[in-house]
Amino acid sequence: MSTEKTLVLVKPDGVSRGLVGEVISRIEAKGYSIDALRMLHADRELLEQHYAEHVGKVFYEPLVEFMMSGPIVAIVASGNRVIEGFRALAGVTDPTVAAPGTIRGDLARDQGTKVVQNIVHGSDSTESAAREIKIFFPN
Ligand code: RTP
Ligand code: MG
Repeated sequence: MSTEKTLVLVKPDGVSRGLVGEVISRIEAKGYSIDALRMLHADRELLEQHYAEHVGKVFYEPLVEFMMSGPIVAIVASGNRVIEGFRALAGVTDPTVAAPGTIRGDLARDQGTKVVQNIVHGSDSTESAAREIKIFFPN
């Protein structure tokens, strides 16, 4: 059985606040491997692919604007059940109620912005992970 992989993004709020190392530390401390890592400034076209499931939702445009507002870091992490494991490390979407001990619970809060800013993205299924890794790491 091949090891599971997930796509993690450190979003613009995480990069601008200097939390890239903190996010990587938590992934590594949990015991997952970092297989690939890349800093980039995402454009609309890339984000449209990545967030295809959210096109048309009220928060879609603010989400794209936010994700284009600064550099992001894309990471492929691997390990048994890493998809579920990273989402547990990240905590729930809304940082106000994300459990203390999680990335979002410890490091983010409601900033009153149009879209929730919550430091990280993590793939939510093996299908999403395969699709998203191809978008950010085409080679
Ligand atoms: P992610 O994809 O970033 O790991 O987060 P998630 O699965 O917890 O949340 P998802 O539903 O996939 O939404 C993607 C991102 O869109 C923003 N969002 N804002 N009601 C809102 O204002 C709202 N809902 C979602 C968040 O930045 C969320 O992480
Ligand atoms: Mg999601």
